Amino acid sequence: MAEPKASNLTWHGGHVDAERRAALLGHRAACLWFTGLSGSGKSTLSTAVEAALVARGVQAYVLDGDNVRMGLNSDLGFAPADRAENIRRIGEVARLFVDSGAVVLTAFISPYRADRAAARALLPDRFVEVFVDPGLAVAEARDPKGLYKRARAGEIPSFTGVSAPYEAPEHPELRVDTGALSLAESVDAVLAHLQSQGIIPAP
Ligand code: ADX
Repeated sequence: MAEPKASNLTWHGGHVDAERRAALLGHRAACLWFTGLSGSGKSTLSTAVEAALVARGVQAYVLDGDNVRMGLNSDLGFAPADRAENIRRIGEVARLFVDSGAVVLTAFISPYRADRAAARALLPDRFVEVFVDPGLAVAEARDPKGLYKRARAGEIPSFTGVSAPYEAPEHPELRVDTGALSLAESVDAVLAHLQSQGIIPAP
C-alpha cells in the first residue's frame, strides 16, 4: 500500500471475514486482472465473462479503462506516472471489491510490469492475471476506435504498442489469444480456470 499523506490514522477492521462472505455468496472473491493492448479484447472479454458469471449467480463487476478514466480517474493522462497512478487506484478499488466478497474484473491496458506487480501485491492469493493477447497485428487491424490509425499518423503521442511500451506478462495465470479463439471459447477458458482454482463452483 502507498504511504498515506495523513498521519494519526487507525485501521478499523470489521466483524465479517472472507469465509463468511464466501459462504453467503456461494463463491470466493477474486480479482481478474485483464491486461493487453488497446483493441486486444479486454472490454469485450471481461464484460462477456461478467455476464456469464452473473448468469451463474456470481457477484461479478467490471471496472473498465475508458469508463473509469471518464470518472474516478478523469484527472489522469497517459504519461508513465499517470498510468501508474491509474493502476494504483484501480488496484485499491479492486481490493475493496474483493474485500466485499465479489469477483471484480479489471480491463486496463496496464502496460507496466511494476504497476501490475503492485496491484498483485495488494491482492495476495486473489489476483488472477489474464493476458489478453491476440498480438499487435490483430489488435491494430481491429482498431475499433480508430486510434492506431491516428497514432501511426502521429496524432496521438505515447500510444501503447506504437510509441509507448507494453510490457507483456511473464507468468500470467492465463493467456487468452482472442485472435485464435472465439469469444465463447475465450469466456470458457476463463471460467474453466476459475473453476479449477475453486473460485467458483461447477455449474
Ligand atoms: S493504462 O495504460 O493506463 O492502463 P487504460 O486502460 O486506462 O490505459 O486506458 C486505455 C484506453 O485509453 C485505450 O483503450 C484508448 O481508448 C484510450 N487511449 C487514449 N490515449 C491513449 C494512449 N496514448 N495510449 C493508450 N491508450 C490510449
